[in-house]
Amino acid sequence: MQIRNICCIGAGYVGGPTMAVIALKCPDIKVTVVDINQDRIDAWNGPLHQLPIYEPGLKEVVAAARGRNLFFSTDINGAIDCSEMIFMAVNTPTKTEGEGAGMAADLRYFEACAKQIAKVAKTDKIVVEKSTLPVRTAEKIKEILEKHGKDDVHFEILSNPEFLAEGTAIQDLFKSDRVLIGGDPSPSGQMAVKALAEIYAQWIPREKILATNVWSSELAKLASNAMLAQRISSINSLSALCEKTGADIDELSKAIGMDHRIGPHFLKASVGFGGSCFQKDILNLVYLCKYYGLDEVAEYWHQVVKINDYQKDRFAQKIIDAFEGNVQGKNIAILGWAFKKDTNDSRESAAINISARLIEKGALIQIYDPMVTGDSINNDLNNFWKMSNFSNNMIKEFILMINIQSSLLNALDNADAVAIITEWDEFKEIDFSNDVKVFDGRNIVKSFGNSDIYNIGK
Ligand SMILES: NC(=O)c1ccc[n+]([C@@H]2O[C@H](COP(=O)([O-])OP(=O)(O)OC[C@H]3O[C@@H](n4cnc5c(N)ncnc54)[C@H](O)[C@@H]3O)[C@@H](O)[C@H]2O)c1
Repeated sequence: MQIRNICCIGAGYVGGPTMAVIALKCPDIKVTVVDINQDRIDAWNGPLHQLPIYEPGLKEVVAAARGRNLFFSTDINGAIDCSEMIFMAVNTPTKTEGEGAGMAADLRYFEACAKQIAKVAKTDKIVVEKSTLPVRTAEKIKEILEKHGKDDVHFEILSNPEFLAEGTAIQDLFKSDRVLIGGDPSPSGQMAVKALAEIYAQWIPREKILATNVWSSELAKLASNAMLAQRISSINSLSALCEKTGADIDELSKAIGMDHRIGPHFLKASVGFGGSCFQKDILNLVYLCKYYGLDEVAEYWHQVVKINDYQKDRFAQKIIDAFEGNVQGKNIAILGWAFKKDTNDSRESAAINISARLIEKGALIQIYDPMVTGDSINNDLNNFWKMSNFSNNMIKEFILMINIQSSLLNALDNADAVAIITEWDEFKEIDFSNDVKVFDGRNIVKSFGNSDIYNIGK
C-alpha cells in the first residue's frame, strides 16, 4: 500500500518538526499538519523567524517543504478525509483531576481525536499513535474507532513513538537511533507496518527501523524516558554525597562514564531534569505499575522523580543559605528559563520551582532567557502558584517581584546573586564582579573572576 496523503493532528513540538522532516524527505507525499489552535497554525504559516517552535535547523526544513507538500491548517475534518494515514501527536499531560490525578496520563485530547477520526472517515485509515501513551492505549483507541466509525471503514492502529529530544529535534529526526513501529500481527496490521516503514526508509537505514508488537512499542517509549531520567537522578543524588565528603562530582562522572558498560551520557550533575516528558512519563509508568499491583516497581521509578524534586529544592536552599537564610529584598538574576538550551520550551523547567521558592521568601528576581517569551514566564509562575494553592492576591504580589529582562547585562545589573539554570551558549563565559554569588545549575563554571561560586556537588 502506498501512502500519498498524510494528516497529523497536533502541530506542537512533535507534530511540527516530525511532519516537516517527513515532507522534506518524501516529496511525493502531501503532509497536512492540523491543530485546533488557530494562533499556532497562523505562526506555522507565518514568517520563518517566528515559527511557534524554536529548533535549530527547523526553519530551513520548513522553508524547503512548506507550500510544496507541507501544509498547516485548522481544517481537521478535511485533512482526515483526504488522508490514508493519520498521525496523532496531541498532548498527553499528567491528569490534574479525577482518578489518577497527579500521576496518570490525561488522554482526553487523544480520545477526542480518535472520535473525530472515526466520525469523519469514509475510507479505510491507518491511525498512528505518535503521542506518548500508557501501554495498551491502542486497545482503547480501537474501541473508540469501532464504536463511532462507519461499519464499512477499517482502521489499523500503529504505535510509532517519537524519540526526538528538543533542542536537537531536526538532527535526531534526520539520524534517528531507531524508529519503532508497533503493529498488529494480522496481515492488515503487517501491511500497515510496512507502509509506515517505507516512509521512514526514504532516509533512515532499514536496520534501524524496528517492528514490534503494539504493546512493546508503547511501553518502550515510557521505559526509555524513565531510564534516561534515572541516570540524571542517580548522578544528582551522588552530587549531594560529594558535597558532604569532598569528592568532586565531575571527577566522579568522568570515572564512572569511562566504564564502557555504563558510558558517559546523561551523567552530568545539574539542577535537575525538566521538559514536558520525563516527569510526566515516569509518573505515568508509576501509575501503570500500581494499576497492575506492582508496588515495589512503582516505588523504584517514583524515586527518580522524588530525587529530581529534591535536587531543585536543594539548589534553591543553597541560594537561601548563602544569605544566612534571608533573601528578603535581594536581587537575584535567573539566567535561562527554557528547560534546556536551544528550545523555547519551558514546561517543567527547574527555573520555575527555584524562582518561585526565592520569590516566596521575598527575593526580587531578574529573569533573562534568549528564547522564552515574557508571557510564557509569567504563565509558568502563575500556574505553578495556582497548583500550589496560593491565593490570587498572593500571586499578584509575587508577580510584582518578577522582572523579565531583555538582555543578559540588564539581568546582571545590581545582582546580589546569579543562578544559571539553562546551559545556553551565551552564558558560557561571563565575567562576574567580585562581590556576586554565582550558583551554577549546569555545573560548568569557567572564568568567573573571584566571585563566590556555588556548584552542585563541589
Ligand atoms: N516535546 C517532546 O520533546 C516530545 C518528545 C517525544 C514525544 N512527545 C510526546 O508527543 C506528544 C505531543 O507533545 P508536544 O510536545 O508536541 O505537545 P504540544 O503541546 O507542543 O502540542 C500538542 C498540540 O496538539 C493540539 N491539540 C490538542 N488536542 C487537539 C485536538 N483535539 N485536535 C487538534 N489539535 C489538538 C494542541 O493545540 C497542541 O498544539 C505528547 O504525548 C508527548 O509526550 C513529546
